Amino acid sequence: MDAGDAVVRAGSSTLTPSSRPRVGPILPAVSLALACGLLGPVGLAAQQDDGRQHFETLCVVCHTVGGGTLIGPDLRGVEDRRSEDWIIRFVQSSQQMVSAGDSTAVALFEEYGSILMPDAPLTDAEIRSVIAYTSQGEALAAAPAPDATAEQVVHGQDLFQGTARFSNGGPTCGSCHDVANDAVIGGGVLAAELTTVFSRLGGPGVRAILGSPPFPVMQQAYMHRPLTDDEVVSLVGFLQKADEEQALHQPRAYGIALFGSGVVGAALLMGLFSLTWRGRKRGSVNQEIFDRQIRSS
Ligand code: HEC
Ligand code: HEC
Repeated sequence: MDAGDAVVRAGSSTLTPSSRPRVGPILPAVSLALACGLLGPVGLAAQQDDGRQHFETLCVVCHTVGGGTLIGPDLRGVEDRRSEDWIIRFVQSSQQMVSAGDSTAVALFEEYGSILMPDAPLTDAEIRSVIAYTSQGEALAAAPAPDATAEQVVHGQDLFQGTARFSNGGPTCGSCHDVANDAVIGGGVLAAELTTVFSRLGGPGVRAILGSPPFPVMQQAYMHRPLTDDEVVSLVGFLQKADEEQALHQPRAYGIALFGSGVVGAALLMGLFSLTWRGRKRGSVNQEIFDRQIRSS
């Protein structure tokens, strides 16, 4: 958007029918003033403001500007390292560029441990506004995400296995994923086992995935039923706990234990039966008559 748009928008929002006569004479003066000195700054500021919004909702969990590597590279100076066109295509679908064999994209993907950067649902202009925001020279980094409270961790577990509902009605995680945790009844096997996902991707990585899932199946599942911030914090807290406690929970060897208790139980029952009916007839009645006749003949 350029400065002209900003002025047009500012003007038309005051042009409601009832106010038109009164502001009429003032409006040209305001426009003139804007056009004279303020035009440039107003347009750029509006663009950077758009950019800030997108950066804060979609990028800041994984990137800083001037704050060092987080999940992805520090974006300071990225506008000098790469062309605008390259950045736009990468942000819209980094994996498409990796599979198309773009050498920079492939090298970055490998350098950053094959972590998928989620496709951002942004237009070219919106991505330009993000670049305008991140390239303004100010250092940017996320405020540290809140740690889950003990209640939130429990809530996260309930959400994961479906004993609590998501407020927007999304499907439970357990219908597609499993974690090795005694408190959770075995989950689905469609998607990755999540026991160690927290150490693999870190808090920001998991948060980013839950905020805007980069995987088509999961994206579909939550597109119109997004998780709330509180639910994300709870789930991340639960996944962190499951990860930390995995050593305690791993030997979930129900298979052997179940088989063993079956064998022992059957042996006990048979012993009980032979005790209860220890006075029972052992041979057939005919056999006794036959034996008696043989003896007497
Ligand atoms: C889940 C974490 C994550 C999110 C969210 C994310 N990125 Fe990335 N980004 C990465 C990773 C990881 C890389 C390194 C390349 C790769 O692994 O594909 C990267 C690379 C980049 C690059 C290339 C940097 C370079 O040095 O060339 C740009 C540009 C970029 N991201 C911009 C963005 C923008 C803009 C957003 C928000 C719309 C965003 N990213 C959201 C993780 C993320
Ligand atoms: C409809 C099925 C489905 C549901 C429901 C679902 N996911 Fe996923 N999820 C996937 C798929 C598919 C992937 C892609 C990776 C894979 O194939 O395992 C994935 C990937 C992930 C990853 C990254 C795994 C990795 O190893 O990089 C995390 C973390 C994750 N999901 C967490 C969750 C959480 C938490 C929930 C509940 C809010 C959830 N998912 C609900 C299907 C689902």
